[in-house]
Amino acid sequence: MPDKRLNVFFGYFGSKWLLAPRYPPPEHGTIVEPFAGSACYSLLYPNRRVVLAERDPIVAGVWRYLISVSEQEIMALPLLDHEQSVDEFKLPQEAKWLIGFWLQRASTPSVRATGWAKTRIQNGTTSGAYWDASIRARVARQLKWIRHWQLHEGNYWDLSLDKAATWFIDPPYEVAGKTYVHDFHNFAHLQHWSMTRKGLVIVCENEGAKWLPFKPFAVARSNQGGAMTNREVVYVQRSA
Ligand SMILES: C[S@@+](CC[C@H](N)C(=O)[O-])C[C@H]1O[C@@H](n2cnc3c(N)ncnc32)[C@H](O)[C@@H]1O
Repeated sequence: MPDKRLNVFFGYFGSKWLLAPRYPPPEHGTIVEPFAGSACYSLLYPNRRVVLAERDPIVAGVWRYLISVSEQEIMALPLLDHEQSVDEFKLPQEAKWLIGFWLQRASTPSVRATGWAKTRIQNGTTSGAYWDASIRARVARQLKWIRHWQLHEGNYWDLSLDKAATWFIDPPYEVAGKTYVHDFHNFAHLQHWSMTRKGLVIVCENEGAKWLPFKPFAVARSNQGGAMTNREVVYVQRSA
């Protein structure tokens, strides 16, 4: 068993890395993240049965790859210099996406280092924040803890699980959720779906969201410099 939470397998815009430990811990053997992204809540409790759903084919593809790829294959992935592109290498597409998520902090992977990542790779100061030897080794080392995770590639509503679980529901925000590749609009459907899950339901949102009776939860930094803040709200429900 890992003695601490797993680190992120890839950086992702909107990740719950900082806030995840502040939500209620799981109360059931199964954790479901129907809006997986980088799955930061599940990374806290990787030994549970973990079920992810993700509609973005790139994010889902990276999880599918991670769940089954060998440590040796990850350790053989190339480290790029600041001008190289992943497309210069013969690699599975999912491996390119994985590396690409470490080349910029966004909701889509890059093919080459941009912005801060470019400067840091050029200066040799990636320090575990961008694709380098330490990140590659860490990803490889952690694979053994997610072999049992299950991935549903598609919409959250197609998940067939009908038993009590801990549902960590972190959709694109109603008010400020336009950054993702697939915009998300149907909050009436998600309201009904969330409220009819069995077990512990935790729903994350931003201040101003009206589709559930959200309560204030935290003020979080929403960009790298920390100048912008997000007022996070939460809805928690327990049902048999
Ligand atoms: C706010 S992010 C989740 C962040 C995640 N909690 C983390 O720690 O990284 C929302 C995710 O939901 C995905 N998504 C959007 N609509 C979806 C749908 N209908 N079904 C499944 N996933 C969806 C997006 O592609 C995005 O990856």
